[in-house]
Amino acid sequence: MQLPIYDFLLKYYNKQELRMHMPGHKGKVGYNILSSIYPFDITEIDGADSLFEAEGIIAESERNASVLFKTKATFYSAQGSTLCIQAMLALMKQENRRIIAVRNAHRAFLNACILLDLDVEWIYPKYENSILSGEIDIDDIKSALRKTTKPACVYVTSPDYMGKMADIALISTVCMEYNAILIVDNAHGAHLAFTSPTVHPIALGADLCCDSAHKMLPALTGAAYLHIGNERYVDRAKSAMSLFASTSPSYLILASLDLCNLYLEQSIEEDINRCEKSILLLKSALSSKYKFYESEPFHLTIVGKDGVKLAGRLKEQGIQPEYYDGECVVLLISPIVSGKDFSRLERVLMGLDLPDTVVEGGEIIFPRPQRVISMKDAVFSDYEEIGVEESVNRICAGVKAPCPPAIPIVVSGEVITGECVKILKKYGISRINVVK
Ligand SMILES: Cc1ncc(COP(=O)(O)O)c(C=O)c1O
Repeated sequence: MQLPIYDFLLKYYNKQELRMHMPGHKGKVGYNILSSIYPFDITEIDGADSLFEAEGIIAESERNASVLFKTKATFYSAQGSTLCIQAMLALMKQENRRIIAVRNAHRAFLNACILLDLDVEWIYPKYENSILSGEIDIDDIKSALRKTTKPACVYVTSPDYMGKMADIALISTVCMEYNAILIVDNAHGAHLAFTSPTVHPIALGADLCCDSAHKMLPALTGAAYLHIGNERYVDRAKSAMSLFASTSPSYLILASLDLCNLYLEQSIEEDINRCEKSILLLKSALSSKYKFYESEPFHLTIVGKDGVKLAGRLKEQGIQPEYYDGECVVLLISPIVSGKDFSRLERVLMGLDLPDTVVEGGEIIFPRPQRVISMKDAVFSDYEEIGVEESVNRICAGVKAPCPPAIPIVVSGEVITGECVKILKKYGISRINVVK
């Protein structure tokens, strides 16, 4: 496979030209341990193409990615899935579509709605023990689509932060029935294009989706894909991305996406196969001590223990989880995790002895706060910061979602309820911005 971006950077480095262009480090090495990569960090010099008007090496690399992911087109982002979400929603705004979104959406979605002044009709999943994850009832999506008088789009996060997958194929069929666009936040699922069978959203019928390459594949932080499954958006996606993007995208990140193509072509299927077997063996070895949340395999989500205590014990043994709270610990596997890594994880987890948490009586009531002003108006209002305990009946001004996982409890423009306060406190949030 050709690696057009990486090869260009290598050639330029070997020529040792005098860099009378940005960036200011001039590709010089030796300042610090990171400076060995500075020579490959360039700007749009002749031949380097330009991310949002790509016709050369970037376009060629993106075409390689599109073939690998089996999409109508795939575009690179050096600003994570965040930029892709902004672009997907801008495309929806251009078509004046109603946004119907499942509530366990990431802060990146909320911020994009604020920037674009979009109103959202929320679908609440059937939460289990946490606001991060829950089952989507297809009838809720149908009834929201039935009610809307405008063209609509449905926005779903799958896999969610705990790795739970939505039934994208079914949601896609329903969207087609109602002539609605399906957008999937697949930030956690770039690897799903290479499982057998594939369960990537584009293969299952999504019109648009984003994958954070940096979360699940060997790529640098910030590397992401905007995948297009519907021809109609192929020509318009780049200009939607450029609305929000820096004019100086990192070539290091772009090169990492270019190099990732080689990995996807040569090794990922074998690695996924190997890891899936190791994950099954690991779960079976741990089954007497641990319960796992129903998720796609690469999210190893332990439930039924005090997640904070378990994470603390794991960290003492040199294992850093992706996320933990009182209810769960999420251990994120990627296809490059080795057999040795799995053995270490198993040894440490087997060596720990933590009691199961006692399920407390009394259902947790997950709030459905009422929206009284738009998200944008609330965010740009005059606001004050107060303790969450005093915030009941006030209008939330700032999105308060701890990151990770950055899932909203109450959204700007909504009235804070007593239940919101309980859940905010449960997630360690003690202060909140409210409209004055
Ligand atoms: C579900 C989800 N969507 C979107 C994002 C934003 O992705 P990125 O950090 O690649 O911009 C995240 C980040 O954690 C996420 O978890």
